[in-house]
Amino acid sequence: MKTLLVHYTPRNERSNTKKLVDAFRSEIKNSDIEELNISMDVPDLFLEENLAAYIQRNYLGQGLTSRQQKSIEKMDRMTEQLTSADIVVVAYPMFNFSMPAPVKAWFDSVMLKGKTWDVKDGKYVGLMKHKKALVLVSSGGFYGKEPMASYEHALSLGKTEFQFMGYSDVRGVLAEGMNAGDGKAPALKSYINQVQKIAQEWYK
Ligand SMILES: Cc1cc2nc3c(=O)[nH]c(=O)nc-3n(C[C@H](O)[C@H](O)[C@H](O)COP(=O)(O)O)c2cc1C
Repeated sequence: MKTLLVHYTPRNERSNTKKLVDAFRSEIKNSDIEELNISMDVPDLFLEENLAAYIQRNYLGQGLTSRQQKSIEKMDRMTEQLTSADIVVVAYPMFNFSMPAPVKAWFDSVMLKGKTWDVKDGKYVGLMKHKKALVLVSSGGFYGKEPMASYEHALSLGKTEFQFMGYSDVRGVLAEGMNAGDGKAPALKSYINQVQKIAQEWYK
Protein backbone atom coordinates (compact mmCIF):
# COMPACT_ATOMS: atom_id res chain seq x y z
CA MET A 1 0.00 0.00 0.00
CA LYS A 2 1.34 3.42 -0.93
CA THR A 3 0.22 6.91 0.03
CA LEU A 4 1.28 9.95 -1.97
CA LEU A 5 1.19 13.38 -0.31
CA VAL A 6 1.34 16.21 -2.84
CA HIS A 7 1.57 19.63 -1.29
CA TYR A 8 2.01 23.25 -2.23
CA THR A 9 2.53 25.11 1.02
CA PRO A 10 5.26 27.67 0.35
CA ARG A 11 4.65 29.46 3.68
CA ASN A 12 6.00 26.31 5.32
CA GLU A 13 5.66 26.42 9.12
CA ARG A 14 3.24 29.37 8.94
CA SER A 15 0.98 27.55 6.50
CA ASN A 16 -2.57 26.61 7.53
CA THR A 17 -2.69 24.07 4.72
CA LYS A 18 0.47 22.37 5.99
CA LYS A 19 -1.26 21.78 9.34
CA LEU A 20 -3.96 19.82 7.50
CA VAL A 21 -1.36 17.69 5.69
CA ASP A 22 0.51 17.08 8.97
CA ALA A 23 -2.76 15.97 10.60
CA PHE A 24 -3.37 13.44 7.83
CA ARG A 25 0.23 12.17 7.84
CA SER A 26 0.15 11.53 11.59
CA GLU A 27 -2.75 9.06 11.12
CA ILE A 28 -1.22 6.99 8.28
CA LYS A 29 -0.72 3.34 9.18
CA ASN A 30 0.73 0.36 7.28
CA SER A 31 1.55 2.33 4.18
CA ASP A 32 4.66 3.56 2.41
CA ILE A 33 4.59 7.33 2.19
CA GLU A 34 5.92 9.34 -0.71
CA GLU A 35 5.87 13.14 -0.76
CA LEU A 36 5.94 15.62 -3.61
CA ASN A 37 6.54 19.23 -2.63
CA ILE A 38 5.46 21.13 -5.71
CA SER A 39 6.77 24.46 -4.54
CA MET A 40 10.27 22.90 -4.76
CA ASP A 41 9.85 20.24 -7.48
CA VAL A 42 7.70 22.39 -9.76
CA PRO A 43 5.61 20.61 -12.41
CA ASP A 44 6.15 21.64 -16.03
CA LEU A 45 3.65 23.78 -17.87
CA PHE A 46 2.38 22.59 -21.22
CA LEU A 47 4.30 24.66 -23.79
CA GLU A 48 4.93 24.23 -27.52
CA GLU A 49 7.31 21.28 -27.47
CA ASN A 50 5.89 19.10 -24.70
CA LEU A 51 2.27 19.69 -25.74
CA ALA A 52 3.07 18.58 -29.28
CA ALA A 53 4.90 15.53 -27.89
CA TYR A 54 1.94 14.64 -25.64
CA ILE A 55 -0.57 14.86 -28.48
CA GLN A 56 1.69 12.97 -30.88
CA ARG A 57 2.31 10.12 -28.41
CA ASN A 58 -0.89 9.86 -26.35
CA TYR A 59 -3.53 10.83 -28.93
CA LEU A 60 -1.97 9.81 -32.25
CA GLY A 61 0.08 6.83 -31.02
CA GLN A 62 3.21 8.03 -32.78
CA GLY A 63 6.80 7.63 -31.62
CA LEU A 64 8.83 10.53 -30.25
CA THR A 65 12.36 11.72 -30.86
CA SER A 66 14.62 11.57 -27.81
CA ARG A 67 14.36 15.36 -27.53
CA GLN A 68 10.55 15.17 -27.53
CA GLN A 69 10.68 12.33 -25.01
CA LYS A 70 12.85 14.45 -22.76
CA SER A 71 10.38 17.33 -22.96
CA ILE A 72 7.66 15.18 -21.41
CA GLU A 73 9.85 13.26 -18.95
CA LYS A 74 8.85 15.17 -15.83
CA MET A 75 5.15 14.77 -16.61
CA ASP A 76 5.69 11.02 -17.05
CA ARG A 77 7.60 10.83 -13.77
CA MET A 78 4.82 12.61 -11.86
CA THR A 79 2.17 10.46 -13.54
CA GLU A 80 3.97 7.23 -12.65
CA GLN A 81 4.31 8.43 -9.07
CA LEU A 82 0.55 9.04 -8.93
CA THR A 83 -0.50 5.80 -10.61
CA SER A 84 1.68 3.78 -8.21
CA ALA A 85 -0.17 5.19 -5.17
CA ASP A 86 -3.35 3.71 -3.65
CA ILE A 87 -4.20 6.88 -1.75
CA VAL A 88 -3.34 10.42 -2.81
CA VAL A 89 -3.70 13.63 -0.84
CA VAL A 90 -3.29 16.98 -2.56
CA ALA A 91 -3.10 20.11 -0.41
CA TYR A 92 -2.95 23.79 -1.35
CA PRO A 93 -4.30 27.22 -0.40
CA MET A 94 -6.97 28.95 -2.45
CA PHE A 95 -5.39 31.58 -4.70
CA ASN A 96 -7.75 33.94 -6.51
CA PHE A 97 -10.71 31.58 -6.07
CA SER A 98 -8.91 28.64 -7.64
CA MET A 99 -5.85 26.44 -7.21
CA PRO A 100 -2.34 27.94 -7.37
CA ALA A 101 -0.75 27.63 -10.84
CA PRO A 102 1.81 24.94 -9.81
CA VAL A 103 -1.06 22.75 -8.56
CA LYS A 104 -2.93 23.14 -11.83
CA ALA A 105 0.33 22.29 -13.62
CA TRP A 106 0.55 19.12 -11.51
CA PHE A 107 -2.99 18.11 -12.53
CA ASP A 108 -2.12 18.90 -16.17
CA SER A 109 0.99 16.73 -15.78
CA VAL A 110 -0.83 13.67 -14.44
CA MET A 111 -4.11 13.78 -16.33
CA LEU A 112 -2.55 12.07 -19.31
CA LYS A 113 -4.76 10.25 -21.79
CA GLY A 114 -4.03 6.53 -21.75
CA LYS A 115 -2.46 6.74 -18.28
CA THR A 116 -5.03 8.07 -15.81
CA TRP A 117 -8.05 8.40 -18.14
CA ASP A 118 -9.00 7.33 -21.63
CA VAL A 119 -11.76 7.28 -24.21
CA LYS A 120 -13.54 3.99 -24.81
CA ASP A 121 -16.52 3.58 -27.16
CA GLY A 122 -16.77 7.35 -27.42
CA LYS A 123 -16.94 7.83 -23.65
CA TYR A 124 -14.47 9.13 -21.11
CA VAL A 125 -13.32 6.52 -18.64
CA GLY A 126 -11.24 7.07 -15.53
CA LEU A 127 -8.47 4.50 -15.11
CA MET A 128 -7.83 5.03 -11.40
CA LYS A 129 -10.59 2.79 -10.02
CA HIS A 130 -10.37 1.39 -6.48
CA LYS A 131 -8.19 4.25 -5.32
CA LYS A 132 -8.84 7.08 -2.90
CA ALA A 133 -8.15 10.80 -3.19
CA LEU A 134 -8.40 13.62 -0.68
CA VAL A 135 -8.16 17.32 -1.53
CA LEU A 136 -7.21 19.70 1.29
CA VAL A 137 -7.67 23.42 0.73
CA SER A 138 -7.49 26.42 3.02
CA SER A 139 -8.96 29.81 2.17
CA GLY A 140 -9.07 33.26 3.71
CA GLY A 141 -12.79 33.78 3.10
CA PHE A 142 -16.01 31.75 3.45
CA TYR A 143 -17.67 29.93 0.56
CA GLY A 144 -20.60 28.15 2.23
CA LYS A 145 -23.35 30.32 0.77
CA GLU A 146 -24.13 32.55 -2.18
CA PRO A 147 -22.91 34.84 -3.56
CA MET A 148 -19.47 33.47 -2.51
CA ALA A 149 -20.31 29.79 -3.12
CA SER A 150 -20.18 30.44 -6.89
CA TYR A 151 -16.62 31.79 -6.52
CA GLU A 152 -15.28 28.53 -5.08
CA HIS A 153 -13.18 26.83 -7.77
CA ALA A 154 -10.31 25.58 -5.60
CA LEU A 155 -11.71 22.53 -3.82
CA SER A 156 -14.41 21.84 -6.40
CA LEU A 157 -11.90 21.74 -9.29
CA GLY A 158 -9.50 19.47 -7.40
CA LYS A 159 -12.30 17.00 -6.62
CA THR A 160 -13.58 17.11 -10.20
CA GLU A 161 -10.13 16.23 -11.56
CA PHE A 162 -9.91 13.12 -9.36
CA GLN A 163 -13.49 12.10 -10.20
CA PHE A 164 -12.63 12.39 -13.88
CA MET A 165 -9.62 10.11 -13.38
CA GLY A 166 -11.99 7.51 -11.92
CA TYR A 167 -10.99 7.53 -8.25
CA SER A 168 -13.59 5.51 -6.35
CA ASP A 169 -13.56 7.60 -3.18
CA VAL A 170 -12.95 11.34 -3.54
CA ARG A 171 -13.16 13.53 -0.45
CA GLY A 172 -12.40 17.16 0.27
CA VAL A 173 -11.96 19.49 3.22
CA LEU A 174 -12.11 23.25 2.75
CA ALA A 175 -10.67 25.01 5.79
CA GLU A 176 -12.43 28.34 5.32
CA GLY A 177 -12.13 31.68 7.05
CA MET A 178 -8.40 31.46 7.76
CA ASN A 179 -8.16 35.27 7.53
CA ALA A 180 -11.15 35.82 9.81
CA GLY A 181 -9.11 36.77 12.87
CA ASP A 182 -10.40 35.53 16.24
CA GLY A 183 -12.45 32.62 14.90
CA LYS A 184 -9.49 31.04 13.07
CA ALA A 185 -7.89 28.85 15.73
CA PRO A 186 -11.02 26.90 16.81
CA ALA A 187 -12.12 26.62 13.17
CA LEU A 188 -8.74 25.22 12.10
CA LYS A 189 -8.92 22.68 14.95
CA SER A 190 -12.29 21.42 13.70
CA TYR A 191 -10.94 21.06 10.13
CA ILE A 192 -7.94 19.16 11.47
CA ASN A 193 -10.39 16.82 13.23
CA GLN A 194 -12.25 16.26 9.94
CA VAL A 195 -8.98 15.39 8.20
CA GLN A 196 -7.96 12.98 10.97
CA LYS A 197 -11.36 11.26 10.81
CA ILE A 198 -10.98 10.59 7.08
CA ALA A 199 -7.48 9.19 7.63
CA GLN A 200 -8.67 7.00 10.51
CA GLU A 201 -11.44 5.61 8.27
CA TRP A 202 -9.02 4.91 5.39
CA TYR A 203 -6.24 3.31 7.48
CA LYS A 204 -8.47 1.19 9.77
C1 LIG B 1 -1.80 35.08 -3.69
C2 LIG B 1 -2.93 34.80 -2.74
C3 LIG B 1 -4.23 34.74 -3.23
C4 LIG B 1 -5.29 34.44 -2.36
N1 LIG B 1 -6.55 34.37 -2.88
C5 LIG B 1 -7.58 34.07 -2.06
C6 LIG B 1 -8.91 33.97 -2.57
O1 LIG B 1 -9.18 34.13 -3.76
N2 LIG B 1 -9.89 33.68 -1.69
C7 LIG B 1 -9.66 33.46 -0.36
O2 LIG B 1 -10.62 33.16 0.36
N3 LIG B 1 -8.42 33.54 0.15
C8 LIG B 1 -7.38 33.83 -0.66
N4 LIG B 1 -6.11 33.91 -0.16
C9 LIG B 1 -5.91 33.58 1.26
C10 LIG B 1 -5.39 32.16 1.44
O3 LIG B 1 -6.12 31.23 0.69
C11 LIG B 1 -5.46 31.74 2.91
O4 LIG B 1 -4.84 32.68 3.73
C12 LIG B 1 -4.85 30.37 3.08
O5 LIG B 1 -5.19 29.86 4.36
C13 LIG B 1 -3.34 30.43 2.95
O6 LIG B 1 -2.82 29.13 3.06
P1 LIG B 1 -1.44 28.83 3.75
O7 LIG B 1 -1.59 29.28 5.21
O8 LIG B 1 -1.29 27.37 3.63
O9 LIG B 1 -0.39 29.60 3.04
C14 LIG B 1 -5.05 34.21 -1.00
C15 LIG B 1 -3.73 34.29 -0.52
C16 LIG B 1 -2.70 34.58 -1.37
C17 LIG B 1 -1.29 34.62 -0.82
